[in-house]
Amino acid sequence: MAKARTIFSCQNCGAQSPRWIGRCPECSQWNTYAEEIEAVEARRDTAPGSNSVAIPLTEIAADEGHHVPTGIAELDRVLGGGTIPGGVALIGGDPGIGKSTIIMQALARVAGSGQNALYVSGEESASQIKLRAERMGISDARFAVLTENCVERIIEQIRDTKPAVVAIDSIQTMYTNDLQSAPGTIGQVRESAAKILAHAKKSNTASFLVGHVTKDGAIAGPKVLEHMVDTVLYFEGERGHSFRILRTMKNRFGSTNEIGVFEMTGHGLKEVSDPSGIFLAEKSKSAAGSVVAASLEGSRPLLLEVQALVSSSGFGTPRRTAIGIDAGRLALLIAVLEKIEGLELRDQDVFLNVAGGVKITEPSADLAVVAAIDSSFRNKPVDHETVVIGEVGLAGEIRAVMGADMRIKEAEKMGFRKVIIPKSNLKGKFSTKIEVFGAATVTECLRML
Ligand code: TYD
Ligand code: MG
Repeated sequence: MAKARTIFSCQNCGAQSPRWIGRCPECSQWNTYAEEIEAVEARRDTAPGSNSVAIPLTEIAADEGHHVPTGIAELDRVLGGGTIPGGVALIGGDPGIGKSTIIMQALARVAGSGQNALYVSGEESASQIKLRAERMGISDARFAVLTENCVERIIEQIRDTKPAVVAIDSIQTMYTNDLQSAPGTIGQVRESAAKILAHAKKSNTASFLVGHVTKDGAIAGPKVLEHMVDTVLYFEGERGHSFRILRTMKNRFGSTNEIGVFEMTGHGLKEVSDPSGIFLAEKSKSAAGSVVAASLEGSRPLLLEVQALVSSSGFGTPRRTAIGIDAGRLALLIAVLEKIEGLELRDQDVFLNVAGGVKITEPSADLAVVAAIDSSFRNKPVDHETVVIGEVGLAGEIRAVMGADMRIKEAEKMGFRKVIIPKSNLKGKFSTKIEVFGAATVTECLRML
């Protein structure tokens, strides 16, 4: 096959050049040129008589999207039910977080169910992979390993072995012969992914791509990678904690924001089906500055301990440190406490931590944060059998949250006696044995506690 002609184009403005240039002469941006395959064919007008015609929605058969469970419930949950033949999922996360581990475990389950699975590694040698597999207790003749970096050869192998599920670990180490640039460059990552994607769709193979993440949290390589694939999953977790959260960022075959919770053990990742219990296990009953929040991740309520420590700062600007919630959000809540509640926090350091290394991404934990800071500042513990739920507005008002009933049910399940929710959420009926109180303002809530 003749080599495809390539061209370099600016990823910012689309200007093109036959050679790589550092600074785009059109838009003056630096380092935006990436090698691409020259798309001559694609630009041509569709021939007359082609069959792309509009059809009524009612006449389209919805036969696509049958999920095949992997058998790992927490993974299936974030995938929307399981893998999809022909579907491509991208798994991103920091180095060492467990991407290779979860992928290998998923493939092992597939192999265990009697189908072929292919694990392609561009990073580790076959014997390294064997060692890891032994550690996780994986040993199945249907689990095939391929150490290869060339996409064309990988596709050949997929064609020969016909796996039901294939995993590429990682997409940044792969290259296609069509481009001269080094693996990991924008052009290579995108072109390699495009080839694997096209083959996956054609052969109805479910695929996983592993992607490395840059310091600022984006998947290294082009953002278009996220647009190309069907599902994007992110692995989160703090170093030094054994808990890992797999979060759906995008899913064409299911809902987003779902989370799966895992624990890293000596034998691979273990599913955590009752995360609230684990995250609350070490909560102290009488410590000031500790309040339980109920966050809702996708369709799953999660009770989490929010801890605050307020202590007088030495000199200079006081410190505000937030682990597990957005730092801007913390600054906002401190400002509300100062202005509305008259709390003197100007010369106080404020540290905030969500126990267990979990990140809270929605605002319903605001009220718990406010209550924790207030409790630590006054050195007065909050009743340990109360859960606090609500978003706080700039005027100190408490705003309604979604899925209040699910959060309350989880609090009841975990044995709490009392829950404070936004007053505007009280309208719904809750058939629970737990006491439910509504608060309209921060002042009202703090008085209740
Ligand atoms: P890995 O899946 O290789 O991470 P990634 O592919 O995201 O870079 O996970 C590596 C880490 O997990 C490493 O620090 C060791 C740890 N680990 C365990 O604790 N137990 C295990 O059974 C395995 C396989 C890994
Ligand atoms: Mg890895």
